[in-house]
Amino acid sequence: MNPRRIAVVAGDGIGKEVIPQAVNAVRASGARVEFADFDWSADRYLRDGTTVPPDGFAMLQRDFDAVLVGALGDPRVPTNIHAKEILLGMRFRMDLYANVRPVKLLDESLCPLKNARTADVNFTVIRENTEGMYVDVGGTFKQGTPDEIAINEDVNTRKGVERVIRYAFEYARQHGRKRVLMADKSNVLTHAHGLWQRVFKQVAAEFAGLQASHMYVDALCLQMVRDPGSLDVIVTNNMFGDIVTDLAAALQGGLGMAASGNIRPGTTSMFEPVHGSAPPLAGKNVANPMGAILTASLMLEHLGLKSEAQRIEQAVVAAVRERKLTADVGGNMGTREVGEWIANRVAS
Ligand code: NAD
Ligand code: IPM
Ligand code: MN
Repeated sequence: MNPRRIAVVAGDGIGKEVIPQAVNAVRASGARVEFADFDWSADRYLRDGTTVPPDGFAMLQRDFDAVLVGALGDPRVPTNIHAKEILLGMRFRMDLYANVRPVKLLDESLCPLKNARTADVNFTVIRENTEGMYVDVGGTFKQGTPDEIAINEDVNTRKGVERVIRYAFEYARQHGRKRVLMADKSNVLTHAHGLWQRVFKQVAAEFAGLQASHMYVDALCLQMVRDPGSLDVIVTNNMFGDIVTDLAAALQGGLGMAASGNIRPGTTSMFEPVHGSAPPLAGKNVANPMGAILTASLMLEHLGLKSEAQRIEQAVVAAVRERKLTADVGGNMGTREVGEWIANRVAS
């Protein structure tokens, strides 16, 4: 088989430091992949005003098997327009409708919950990734006056809701999971989340072997802290998925540990750590590269390179056990030093 082609967009801030460590881990695994770098970032935007070239998304879909992204966001671009065009652009324009965020505690020492075992934190959030409150439909009226009105619409389509819910059930089946839980606020958002309720029941009926259940998202937040072991696969809308996965990241040791994939089955998907560009940490060699390295592992698994993916994850587990850690998870090593240790372990 030809080598898999990976487009790399390291982006801004700590993205530029953690992504090279993820790339090194993949290289060390011996996976048959080729990388191509793209400078889509705040630096480029500030230099020439461009974000994504006119055929950029089509080019990614045509020429690459996957995209690996660091993070986008820079205080020098207060509108965040470049991040919107690059990151949300990929999600929306490439129609990457399932944002898959595994929540896996690799070692007990990382969990802020008392007496939590690794088996207690092992679930996956499937976040709708192409609609909801992220569509940027809305506007302001009488801006700057005391009568100002600001509106952001919450768009939920039958097609969008159905495909992500079906993806969650299929994901559960493929990953040996038993339960799928849908989280919404249908008690308040009766129209939009009423649709989620109806579609969830309908799709659940197609998957007799899987248990389907529901929670309001506020109750889910409580449950994630009180009894995370009761969770398996969670499917929810774009905004709630964003929020609950930061909470979930805390259970794994923090944002520095969390990985994600933006998936559209059958086409080029995009993989990124859950964390952002962390401007205060940028350029200091202190950012935790593990989230990015675990993201690369997720990407290889998606590309069918399972043994390489596992080797990388196991090397991260070993690094945690041997306390080869950055400061955010209680260590004193640098980004590069942790990355090098992991790459050496992968290669050994
Ligand atoms: P952030 O994830 O950058 O940082 C949140 C907190 O987590 C900070 O305390 C930060 O120091 C810490 N942190 C995050 N990643 C870490 C790592 N790898 N190692 C150690 N500590 C880490 O989120 P924020 O501060 O809300 O946002 C900063 C910028 O990043 C904003 O411009 C935001 O829009 C952007 N952002 C981008 C993405 C993305 O590209 N996927 C995701 C989230 C935020
Ligand atoms: C994430 C981030 C993004 C989101 C931002 C940077 C647009 O927080 O990937 O979780 O809200 O989806
Ligand atoms: Mn987020």
